Amino acid sequence: MKSLLDKVAIVTGAAHPMGMGFAAALKLAQAGAKVILTDLGRNEQELKVLEQRANEIRELDGNAIAIAVDITQRSQIDRCVEKVIEQYGKIDILFNNAGSPIGCGEFLNMTDQQWDISYQVNVKGTVDFCQAVIPVMIEKGGGSIINNASLSGLAVVEKMAAYTATKFAVVGLTKALACEFGRNNIRVNSVCPGNIWTQMGQIEAELLQKDGQSIADVKADMSAKVPLGRCGVSADVANAVVYLASDMSSYISGVAMPVAGGMAPGL
Ligand SMILES: NC(=O)c1ccc[n+]([C@@H]2O[C@H](COP(=O)([O-])OP(=O)(O)OC[C@H]3O[C@@H](n4cnc5c(N)ncnc54)[C@H](O)[C@@H]3O)[C@@H](O)[C@H]2O)c1
Repeated sequence: MKSLLDKVAIVTGAAHPMGMGFAAALKLAQAGAKVILTDLGRNEQELKVLEQRANEIRELDGNAIAIAVDITQRSQIDRCVEKVIEQYGKIDILFNNAGSPIGCGEFLNMTDQQWDISYQVNVKGTVDFCQAVIPVMIEKGGGSIINNASLSGLAVVEKMAAYTATKFAVVGLTKALACEFGRNNIRVNSVCPGNIWTQMGQIEAELLQKDGQSIADVKADMSAKVPLGRCGVSADVANAVVYLASDMSSYISGVAMPVAGGMAPGL
């Protein structure tokens, strides 16, 4: 029996083929959920890429549609929620995955724009999606929200001040909402990925790159620091998302779960 049969799940930031959003959308669909993949979709090319991801899931017999949503635009979030309710009548699962790495870099060189975008995407976008979806979940008797924070939401990595501050905020928001909406049967948890080899993971790797070092060398260095001996892949995080979305985690709420190959916060 599929663990998420007939559940309706929205995933943000799901356009990139290597990303955690798409990996989670695919695994949610394979577990039986009807999945709504969302991402920016600012032009024809971005819309085509997002639609392509939904197509890939449908080709594997999954149930998926694509809706363009810039999570910094509350009106776009509201329109998406309305469309999903029109089409499916409920929302059981929300994976707030979209995020921006723009807040990585040296603190003294960090611009207002880096702070503003980090806040708008990583924090406010997650806040707004929760605020739009929670009333629907309350009305329908509950749901599961999973926020993609980061190991940087639990511990400090050098030269990532704005990213770190906003990911700590995501963990705090997760705990606050878990507390406030537990009685509505809504569970709210975070996943805290470590070094995951995605498009964004590679941007972070470039920051660590020393003169003359190739990206493959940086990846090898990063892998050596992970107790399980490798950088993660998006599917590692997607498995945790499916678990937190399903009844297998029925008594788990307010948790910030490292998905980091044994890397422990503070080490
Ligand atoms: N890669 C890592 O090592 C790592 C580690 C910890 C946490 N994370 C977090 O995981 C999440 C997914 O990242 P990923 O590594 O899969 O990279 P990714 O680039 O594939 O995913 C991020 C997605 O967010 C989307 N996005 C950005 N701004 C948006 C906006 N305003 N509205 C809608 N969508 C927007 C991007 O288009 C992109 O598709 C992010 O929240 C990131 O901070 C990544």
